Amino acid sequence: MAGAPPPLLLALLGLAALAAAGATNAAGRKTVGVYELRKGDFSVRVTNWGATLTSVVLPDSKGNLADVVLGYDTIAEYVNGSAYFGALVGRVANRVANARFVLDGKVYHLYRNDGKNALHGGKRGFSKVIWTVKEYVGSGDSPYITLYYHSFDGEEGFPGDLDVYVTYRLSGPYELSLRMNATALSRATPVNLVNHAYWNLGGHGSGDVLRHTVQLLASRYTPVDAGLIPTGAVAPVAGTPYDLRAPTRLGARLRLVSGGKAGVYGYDTNFAVDGEARALRKVAAVRDGGASGRALELWADQPGVQFYTGNFLAGVKGKGGAVYGQHAALCLETQGFPDAVNHPNFPSQIVRPGQVYRHNMVFKFSF
Ligand SMILES: *[C@@H]1O[C@H](CO)[C@@H](O)[C@H](O)[C@H]1NC(C)=O
Ligand SMILES: *[C@@H]1O[C@H](CO)[C@@H](O)[C@H](O)[C@H]1NC(C)=O
Repeated sequence: MAGAPPPLLLALLGLAALAAAGATNAAGRKTVGVYELRKGDFSVRVTNWGATLTSVVLPDSKGNLADVVLGYDTIAEYVNGSAYFGALVGRVANRVANARFVLDGKVYHLYRNDGKNALHGGKRGFSKVIWTVKEYVGSGDSPYITLYYHSFDGEEGFPGDLDVYVTYRLSGPYELSLRMNATALSRATPVNLVNHAYWNLGGHGSGDVLRHTVQLLASRYTPVDAGLIPTGAVAPVAGTPYDLRAPTRLGARLRLVSGGKAGVYGYDTNFAVDGEARALRKVAAVRDGGASGRALELWADQPGVQFYTGNFLAGVKGKGGAVYGQHAALCLETQGFPDAVNHPNFPSQIVRPGQVYRHNMVFKFSF
């Protein structure tokens, strides 16, 4: 990026005062910190920059600890980065076609940051703002942190004020839960929050995830056009490379899936999760087929899950000198369907004033 660093960046680098531009947040000083949640040899770190999950450390079967999410060493790198490592993405994650939608007869134009489309909430979405730490309990039986963000009317083009909360909690032995809610205060608005953690159960610097096996409890997926926008179909996975209903080693399978751009392969696909989205249900199971033997199960209450295999990672400098190449990790972003706001047949993402959006996820680790 050419030119002078934006004021936000300058403020952050000095961890100095910040009055979020145009925001209706209470005036005053906001600082960025990193907060640890610990339960024995299981520990997680979260920063209020983008409500981002920066590390998840757990043992393997031999007791060796590893950090199983990709990330950076410094907040400045999160500010500059474009991979959404561990971030809380919103107001509307994934793509909105032509950065445009119509709601209650009014046309809304969003910030175009993906060709002509809007991606992951725009130029300065929820992953690129400072959240307020509401509560923090780092240790004990159920360590947690609750972060809050007030999104203002018109932010990145979205209608209405929105109060957003996310709580990261060590909710059981080797269990991490995320509880998100968002209340529309003044106008109807689409809301679709995701956590964008990049998982590598062998450890974040251990190479690619080709030996991981993945199972997705999803009988259907939403095919996309050349611009990665859903066609509107919700198609069966049976007989396609998108059939991951049985545990499947990623290895050779990845090559069967076009990654969305010439020369890039792998998954970047929204799956329609089986069962009703009203309560937690099992979404995915992942196992490291390598030496660590670590596994995770993901449970959530959303209609879909974006399964992304790090197709576009290309030598990103990460934590502790690690360099993340293509397929260095996989993402399981539970969500509403991409571009739902332009597809009336997809589950609605509209939240009306006084209504509350809710999204719960639980990661259960074993080794
Ligand atoms: C900022 O990110 C770009 C890639 O998006 C990278 O090339 C550059 O080194 C980064 N700068 C800093 C200071 O981290
Ligand atoms: C949203 O979550 C926060 C933090 O847990 C909680 O205090 C608040 O009551 C929740 N809001 C709603 C409307 O449930």
